[in-house]
Amino acid sequence: MTRSPRYAAVAIALHWAIAFGLLFMIWLGWNMDGKESWFQFHKSVGITILLLTVARITWRLLNPPPPLPNDMKPWESKASHAVHLGFYALMVIMPLTGWLTASTSYDFDIPTVLYGLVSWPDIPGVGFLSNETAHGIIANIHSKLAYVLFALLALHVGGALKHEFGPEEGVLKRMLPGLFGKTDRPSPPPHGFLIAFGAAIGVFVLIAFAPKLFSGSPSPSAATAGEVNERSVAPDWTVDYGQSSIAFTFTHEGQTYEGAFSDWTADIAFDEDQLDASDVRVSVNTASATTPKKLYTDSLKSAEWFGVSAFPQATVDLINFAETGDGYTADATLSIKESAVTVPFAFTLEDEDGVTVMTGGTSVDRTPLDLGQTSDAGADYVSETVRIDVRVTASPAG
Ligand code: HEM
Ligand code: HEM
Repeated sequence: MTRSPRYAAVAIALHWAIAFGLLFMIWLGWNMDGKESWFQFHKSVGITILLLTVARITWRLLNPPPPLPNDMKPWESKASHAVHLGFYALMVIMPLTGWLTASTSYDFDIPTVLYGLVSWPDIPGVGFLSNETAHGIIANIHSKLAYVLFALLALHVGGALKHEFGPEEGVLKRMLPGLFGKTDRPSPPPHGFLIAFGAAIGVFVLIAFAPKLFSGSPSPSAATAGEVNERSVAPDWTVDYGQSSIAFTFTHEGQTYEGAFSDWTADIAFDEDQLDASDVRVSVNTASATTPKKLYTDSLKSAEWFGVSAFPQATVDLINFAETGDGYTADATLSIKESAVTVPFAFTLEDEDGVTVMTGGTSVDRTPLDLGQTSDAGADYVSETVRIDVRVTASPAG
């Protein structure tokens, strides 16, 4: 009988964290259908496992495992190493095929936000696989790998138990935390903890943040609001953007959320005595939309919503102003991507400390504006109608 030393604590911790992580992920994968937040959690834990695997493989290269008991038969050691190699391959391939599945999604364009906090990009350059056939094959491979893992696990656990209770004795104890293992088995001195976890953190930072560094600003600031020609009313209002806002309210899965555009400009030619000649042109930087949830904020940038890379700017033109009993109305034409709708916009004007405050709003349906029509055309998740509330603080020139 050989009392071979135990694995080092770091190896043991990573072994069990990843082992339970993978099994949990399979359970999650099988049970997350129709539950959008579970999908996000599945992707978050999966990427975490990928990063832990980077740490684990780096650690393993720096810390050779304790030798197997020397009374193990050669074919048994070979089989054991082959299973370990298979596991290492799965630890890399399962999350990578998952990430590829998410990156080649052709119908749902839902971004990945790790734990609701960090935007995680799609794998670059795989757009050519974003079709039903290729995506289907990738998703199928991703799901079938679960059975490969179970097959390896059966061999692995069988081997571990045989060599725990068989004549070699104690192989399992090499991998059990000290609490369960025998303390008379020494652990080798660990090397390269910082290198291993530094590598994982490095990979994370590189993938999560490098695309942002290299992509530059997503779109130019919406500074130009169109030509200002042939207006009889001068565009003579100066907007105090710090005291002004464009907010939008929508519901998702029954919950109400309020978002806002932080970058927009308004070119206001408005005169209460010349309503016919008045017009207002607003230009909105679509990438500046934020919501209380990072996932929604990221989703809005995608092609099926604002499509910010192709359509960085949306515009609103207000004309046909008329007085009502308690304020004004105008026809507001919203143009976004390649669609436009005209809706009535009601507002009031009030003087506050020498400045004029306009408060107004309208509601728009997203279908005619081609928003969210790929993943939720039936408004099963996101409300069809979106409320827009605008507050503009401005002073007349001079
Ligand atoms: C770390 C290991 C992972 C394991 C063990 C795992 C396991 C699974 C399983 C068992 C399914 C269910 C497949 C089925 O319907 O039969 C699944 C689905 C899925 N996983 Fe993973 N996953 C992992 C990582 C990831 C990662 C990192 C991502 C994305 C970043 C991801 C994205 C997906 C997606 C999008 C689906 C749905 C596929 C479909 O449309 O059918 N997975 N996963
Ligand atoms: C999905 C689950 C699992 C995965 C992916 C996995 C993976 C691995 C890998 C890759 C190694 C080799 C470590 C190295 O030398 O670099 C290993 C070793 C080991 N695992 Fe697992 N394991 C899993 C579950 C289990 C379970 C459930 C047991 C307990 C019965 C177990 C017991 C062991 C033992 C005792 C060793 C050391 C064996 C030796 O020294 O040859 N593992 N495991």
